[in-house]
Amino acid sequence: MRVVCVKGEMMSKKTASEKISEEEIVIDIDEPELTVEDLPGVGPATAEKLREAGFEELLAIAVMSPSELAEQAELGEAVSAKIIAGAKRMANIGGFISGNALLEKRKRVQKLSSGTSSLDELLGGGFETQAIIEVYGEFGSGKTQVGHQLAVNTIRPIEDGGLDGEVFYIDTEDTFRPERITQMAIALGIDPADALERIHVARAYNSAHQILLVDEIKRMSKNIDVKLVIVDSLTSHFRAEYIGRGMLATRQQKLNRHMKDLKQLSDIQNSIILVTNQVMSKPDAMWGDPTKAIGGHIVGHASTFRLYLRKSKGGRRIARLVDSPNLPEGEAVFTVTAEGLQD
Ligand code: GTP
Ligand code: MG
Repeated sequence: MRVVCVKGEMMSKKTASEKISEEEIVIDIDEPELTVEDLPGVGPATAEKLREAGFEELLAIAVMSPSELAEQAELGEAVSAKIIAGAKRMANIGGFISGNALLEKRKRVQKLSSGTSSLDELLGGGFETQAIIEVYGEFGSGKTQVGHQLAVNTIRPIEDGGLDGEVFYIDTEDTFRPERITQMAIALGIDPADALERIHVARAYNSAHQILLVDEIKRMSKNIDVKLVIVDSLTSHFRAEYIGRGMLATRQQKLNRHMKDLKQLSDIQNSIILVTNQVMSKPDAMWGDPTKAIGGHIVGHASTFRLYLRKSKGGRRIARLVDSPNLPEGEAVFTVTAEGLQD
């Protein structure tokens, strides 16, 4: 029997040709699609708790640890262990696809122009969809400005280097400024009201809220062609809430899961995920740059591209491409002006 999964239904409402088409998500299986109610030991009340905590899919449950599921869904640990064991047996684990299928998926990658030729060149033509880009640097280095600029650029037509789509902005530090969007839009000849209409902003009050907002984006993307998701900043809440060595492992696990959620979103929607990250001072470092991104290698490894921003003379900013699967390391220089990012 051929079953179209929920994601397929989501896609079928869309018209944009670069979306992952319905046929590609059709799975040939012999059983109907399972829901959390099908798990052993899950009655309506437990199902509701799981859903409320964002666990809609069996796979999302299968990859949890009992203590984590217990905490997030407010269940007992023994019950959680049983539910996870059931989910492991029943979930569609997915898995391997051919190199050709992967090449087809890569062909759908689109590139968003930053509006500066130096940054675009550094990134091999612009910011790629189906990727997480981590922009990290010290305070005032321009991370939030890059976010605002990409938000405006995303709604531009494809022929102008945009993606003709919409933007979700998760703002954790209350630094999103509609006035700045207006300024940048006017500089590009875009109607500011139209720009602001297509940029959806949510203030995340803590890390749990931040994580839930990603689920909300997934839900809203059924009807909205989301091409850029910004999390500014990715790590500030996690850093404030999980303090000290004893909390480090939990913090990293949560961050890891959050990054995986974001990556999945970027793959399904063929969209860009931009996350910003501060650096922590490492005054004892003798060589190299005495700064290190927060979140360590969890965030670093989960990101497809990493851009390190630093301030330079005369208001200039230097962006260094630190990690990339297929591009050489290098640097680009740009400035932040009233009109936005410029060469
Ligand atoms: P944190 O979030 O504190 O870590 O910093 P950040 O890296 O996000 O820095 P942000 O992007 O907020 O950069 C702030 C800098 O951008 C300011 O110090 C200014 O140099 C520049 N900037 C911001 N807004 C404007 C503007 O309207 N005009 C001009 N010319 N520069 C601006
Ligand atoms: Mg900022």
